[in-house]
Amino acid sequence: MDVLVADAPALPCTVATDVAVIGSGIAGLSVAYELASHGRSVVVLDRGRIGSGMTARTTAHLATALDDGYDELARVRGADCARHYYQSVAAAIDRAEAIQHAERIDCNFRRLDGYWVLAPETPASELDEELNCCRKLGIPVEDCIEPTPFHVEGLVRSLRFARQARLHPTKYLAGLARAIQGLGARLYADTCVEGIRQQHDDMVVTTTSGHEVRAADVVVATNSPVNVQVAIHTKQAPYRTYALAAKIPAGALEDALYWDTLDPYHYVRLQPFSAGEDLVIIGGEDHRSGEADDGAQRLAALERWARDRLPDLREVTHRWSGQVLEPIDFAGFIGRSPGEEHLFIVSGDSGQGITNGLVAGMLITDLITTGASAWEEVYAPSRRIQKNIGEFISENITPLKNLAEYLTASEIASVEGLRPGEGRLVRSGLKKIAACRDRGGNLHLHSASCTHLGCVVHWNSLEQCWDCPCHGSQFAPDGTALNGPAVSPLTDVEKPAKLEAAA
Ligand SMILES: Cc1cc2nc3c(=O)[nH]c(=O)nc-3n(C[C@H](O)[C@H](O)[C@H](O)COP(=O)(O)OP(=O)(O)OC[C@H]3O[C@@H](n4cnc5c(N)ncnc54)[C@H](O)[C@@H]3O)c2cc1C
Ligand code: FES
Repeated sequence: MDVLVADAPALPCTVATDVAVIGSGIAGLSVAYELASHGRSVVVLDRGRIGSGMTARTTAHLATALDDGYDELARVRGADCARHYYQSVAAAIDRAEAIQHAERIDCNFRRLDGYWVLAPETPASELDEELNCCRKLGIPVEDCIEPTPFHVEGLVRSLRFARQARLHPTKYLAGLARAIQGLGARLYADTCVEGIRQQHDDMVVTTTSGHEVRAADVVVATNSPVNVQVAIHTKQAPYRTYALAAKIPAGALEDALYWDTLDPYHYVRLQPFSAGEDLVIIGGEDHRSGEADDGAQRLAALERWARDRLPDLREVTHRWSGQVLEPIDFAGFIGRSPGEEHLFIVSGDSGQGITNGLVAGMLITDLITTGASAWEEVYAPSRRIQKNIGEFISENITPLKNLAEYLTASEIASVEGLRPGEGRLVRSGLKKIAACRDRGGNLHLHSASCTHLGCVVHWNSLEQCWDCPCHGSQFAPDGTALNGPAVSPLTDVEKPAKLEAAA
């Protein structure tokens, strides 16, 4: 997605600062803003342009309603954890409201209701359980029966969560970046971090250009942490999600947030567009990253789903997809990186990554400035995952499945036949090769082994990149790492003399 949140140069030389923040999405810029507001000197580094990661692709529902439900969270992690989680996300929405107001950020921030709508396929008991749990925890929610856009006709039951919010994510980031620079923090784009080490009392961040940042504390807000090899990545799983925006006459749909109870669920909201028209943004059709390459069909299914329910829908103006990292026990990972004192991470965004990023701003600032946070345990990256979580098993099947993939046959008989925009896996002896032809017609051949932990990458024709199903790394056709945890590019390989037979 083409956005310009803030102009920033590449890091020109080695610099020193109180805090180095790596990543300039909602998490990195929120942390940078809060710390700079507390008088810390801050340097933000991003491998690409400022704010051009997943935050530029979000639909930006700011919700206290929890994707997986408070009932599940309380069952797995206890009532206190669920209560603290609610307090943290409610505070995150308040914080976004306060910041956009104080910094005069014109980002369409609006408070509105959110409806968790019962899909016909879901037993009503699912809403009953969530309602009862929320009431026990003191979370404000109402049981409603009224028409919603999820049904062509008739009344439907939903849970209404008041005081949710929405904003325009890149307008918000642009305002935040301006405010951060106004507080004296330095932003550097096109600066890829390749390592972080402790040297005496300093943390040293090394970049691929050879320049370093020396800091007392480092915050890794790269969506998927690039400093942790294993500890976090076995506790979360990457999912691709799809979204589209279409015009709709103003007033045709109540300005609210909507989610249904399907799995994967649909999510819907409005975005002001022009005097007589709004955009309705519809998302869903999620799947485990790398396990399907049918993005165009999923977007078509999303559009059909929307047109069935919103007869006033006009033309589709935007279609896109992105990745979220689903934490196994329902809350993100925000705090000290396991085993570290001055190194902090933010990850496990799930469909709540915007509030997650805002929570990170407050939580990590508290840890750095006071040494403690009321929400520390809820999000502790080093927490143990309860063994009774069924999904823990299924989320980790993919790495095993990947080992078997090294032995499967080539998907095509010859790499010469690849058309522009196509990518396929081929095998030559024991080598698995990621072969693709970019839209400009250039053939690229790389080892298909992800440079994080070696899983086989899969082609994503919609986004024109290689996705790793294990922990979410993504690589451009020329092999460049686009998304962590991998930092190194896919390894170049020679054109194979012979391919193992196509399946
Ligand atoms: C389609 C879609 C819809 C969504 N809808 C919602 C929603 O309604 N509500 C919600 O709360 N959340 C939603 N999410 C999730 C949310 O958008 C994300 O979780 C959130 O934006 C992640 O923010 P982040 O700051 O962690 O990551 P990012 O925005 O991805 O920022 C990370 C940055 O780190 C940089 N980086 C990576 N590696 C390096 C490196 N080695 N060196 C330097 N920089 C590096 C990247 O370039 C990037 O700019 C949605 C996501 C998608 C894709
Ligand atoms: S992201 Fe971990 S192996 Fe690819």
